Amino acid sequence: MTERCQGDTRPRTGPRARTAIVLAAAALLAATSAAFLPGTASAGTTLGASAAEKGRYFGTAVAASRLSDGNYTTILNREFNSVTPENEMKIDATEPQQGRFSYGAAEQIVNHARSRGMSVRGHTLAWHSQQPSWMESMSGSALRSAMLNHVTQVATHFRGQVVAWDVVNEAFEDGTSGARRNSNLQRTGNDWIEAAFRAARAADPNAKLCYNDYNTDNWTHAKTQAVYNMVRDFKARGVPIDCVGFQSHFNNDSPYVSNYRTTLSSFAALGVDVQVTELDIQGAPAATYRSVVEDCLAVARCNGVTVWGIRDSDSWRASQTPLLFNSSGQKKAAYDAVLAALNNGTTPTDPPTTPPTTPPTTPPSGSCTATLQDSTRWGDRFNSQVTVSGASNWTVVVAVTPPQKVSNTWNGTPTWDSSGNVMTMRSNGSGTVFGFTTMANGTWTRPVVRSCTAS
Ligand code: G3I
Repeated sequence: MTERCQGDTRPRTGPRARTAIVLAAAALLAATSAAFLPGTASAGTTLGASAAEKGRYFGTAVAASRLSDGNYTTILNREFNSVTPENEMKIDATEPQQGRFSYGAAEQIVNHARSRGMSVRGHTLAWHSQQPSWMESMSGSALRSAMLNHVTQVATHFRGQVVAWDVVNEAFEDGTSGARRNSNLQRTGNDWIEAAFRAARAADPNAKLCYNDYNTDNWTHAKTQAVYNMVRDFKARGVPIDCVGFQSHFNNDSPYVSNYRTTLSSFAALGVDVQVTELDIQGAPAATYRSVVEDCLAVARCNGVTVWGIRDSDSWRASQTPLLFNSSGQKKAAYDAVLAALNNGTTPTDPPTTPPTTPPTTPPSGSCTATLQDSTRWGDRFNSQVTVSGASNWTVVVAVTPPQKVSNTWNGTPTWDSSGNVMTMRSNGSGTVFGFTTMANGTWTRPVVRSCTAS
C-alpha cells in the first residue's frame, strides 16, 4: 500500500529505502508505543503534539492576513496541528460574483497548513451569513441551485486537502422554538440541509461532513435537542453526515455547563464524530478551558478541539480576552490548563471507536468466521488483528472509514476496491491471523469485517 496520508511531507523514496524506514520506524514505535497509548499520561510540550498522543488534533482559526506576522506564525507552527480558515472559505470569499470563484486567500492558509503537516477544517459551504450580495438577493429554486453549485465547486476545488467540512453552519433558531432559522436558504425548502450534504459527499467523498452550530452545548436547550433530532433523522435515512461541530463560544450570557460532556457523548452515540470547532471563553478561565478539553477527551468520538484564534488580539471578541495567548503571544494560565488536560487525558467512556450499530466481532459468513480485535494504537494510527476460524484458505473483506487509509498489512495478500476503503485479504497458506495498520486521519472508528469466505 503506497498511499500517502494528508500532511505527509516525507520525501518519496525507493523500495529499499522504504523498507529501511519501515524497519527503523517499527523499532522506534516498539520502544515508544507505551507512551502513546490512549488514556495514559503523556508529556507533550505543545498543544498539537499532546493532542496527537491522545489521537486528537488541537487546532486554531487562522486569518490569511496574519500569516505575515512572525509572532503569530511562530505560535501557529509550534502549537497547532489543525487549521480552520476564519473567513477565507466562506461564501462571500470564495464566490464573490456568481460563478466566479476566488480561492487565493483560502489556498494561502491551506498551503501554509498542509506544508507543515497540519490538517485543514473547511468552514463553511452553506450559511445564511456572509453571503455575497448576489446570493443574498436570491430565492427559491435559483438560490437552491446556486447554493448546491457553490457546495459542489468549492468542495471539489479542495478535494483531498480538507479533512472535514462544515457543510452547513448555524441553521437553527436560538431560543426555545427548536425551529429552523428563517433564512433565504431555509425558504428554498426544508430539505436544503440534506441536499447540501449530498452535494458535498458527491464532490469530496473522503472528507468528513459536519453540521456546525453555536448555543448547542447545553444538553437541555431546545436548540441542542433540535439539532440532535435532525442528526438522528439524517443517520436513520442515510443522509451523509459524519460529524457535528460545537462552536462553543462561551461567555457570561452563554456559559459552559457541566452537561457539555453529556451533549458530546449523546451526539457521538448517534454514530457521528463530534468536534469542538470555535472555542473561546470570556476571560479565559483556566478551569473552564480544562473542563472543555477533558470533556472532549472523555468521548472517544471527539476528534479534536479548535480555538477561534491564537492571541487575544486575533479574536473576534478581543475585548473579552478569551484565548490561550495574550496579545503579545505569551501563554496564559488557560494554556497551561489545556496542556495539562491533554497530557493527563482520561480514558474514553463511550464505546471506543465503535459505531453503536457495529458489533465488535462479525458473525460467520459462508463457512468461516473472522473476528477483528483492536491492537496497538499511536497518535496517528492503530493496528487491528483479524483471527479466522473454520477455514485455512480464506478470503476476508474489511472496510475502513474514510478518510482512514490502511498503510500496512501482514500475513495475507490484500487487494483493494476503487475507493481504497475496502480491502479484500486472502490467506497466504495455512495462517489464520492477519493484521493491518490504519492511518486514522482524525477518525478512530474501528474497521469492520464485512465477510469471511472459505475457498
Ligand atoms: O477584512 C475587512 C476589512 O478590510 C474591513 O475594513 C473591515 C470593516 O468592517 O471588515 C473586515 O472584514 C471583517 C472580517 O471579519 C475580517 O476581520 C468583517 O467585517 C467581519 O464581519 C468579519 O467577522 C467575522 C464573522 O465571523 C462574520 O460573521 C469574524 O472575523 C469571524 O471570526 C466570525 O466567525 C464566526 C464563524 O464563522 C461562525 N461562528 C461564529 C463566529 C463568530 O462570529
